[in-house]
Amino acid sequence: MKVGIIVHSYTGNTLSVAQRLKDQLVEANYLVELKQVTAVDEKPSEAGNIQLKTIPDVNDYDGLIFGAPVRAFSLSPAMKAYLLQLPSLAGKKVGCFVTQHFRYKWMGGNRSIKQMKKICRDKGTDIWASGIINWSHPQREEQIAEAVESLLKL
Ligand SMILES: Cc1cc2nc3c(=O)[nH]c(=O)nc-3n(C[C@H](O)[C@H](O)[C@H](O)COP(=O)(O)O)c2cc1C
Repeated sequence: MKVGIIVHSYTGNTLSVAQRLKDQLVEANYLVELKQVTAVDEKPSEAGNIQLKTIPDVNDYDGLIFGAPVRAFSLSPAMKAYLLQLPSLAGKKVGCFVTQHFRYKWMGGNRSIKQMKKICRDKGTDIWASGIINWSHPQREEQIAEAVESLLKL
């Protein structure tokens, strides 16, 4: 199974989780590629009218894991724009995760995962596993390990 981990990350938190996920999937003998979604203007203030610069292709992968930061209690606009422009995901196994600053999942994490699930469902697949990492939580490391473990079951 070839797995694509596709993330949007501005300050590197989401990317660092994705890298750990990749290392563990490689260790488990999966073929894995880690790709980044980028916007023409990455300044976080550019919330509306996102223009994507790097748009990773999903056709090559049997499994996909999408990762993104929470922005203003919602999914990052770049990841949202990226997911919305994808072709059908029917037949692919999909997981997702988000990172957020605040320590409570209801401060944007839950909503962002819900948004990702809805878009993926509209694209023809359900999300099998998901994770939320609260960056300022004292148990952040445990949350990362838990998210990685559940996404590895993909
Ligand atoms: C414009 C902006 C809005 C944000 N809004 C939220 C928010 O609503 N809730 C939250 O918990 N974190 C929020 N954050 C913090 C990021 O979600 C958090 O730092 C995340 O881990 C960043 O991921 P990255 O390093 O991959 O870009 C916000 C950050 C920025 C820049």
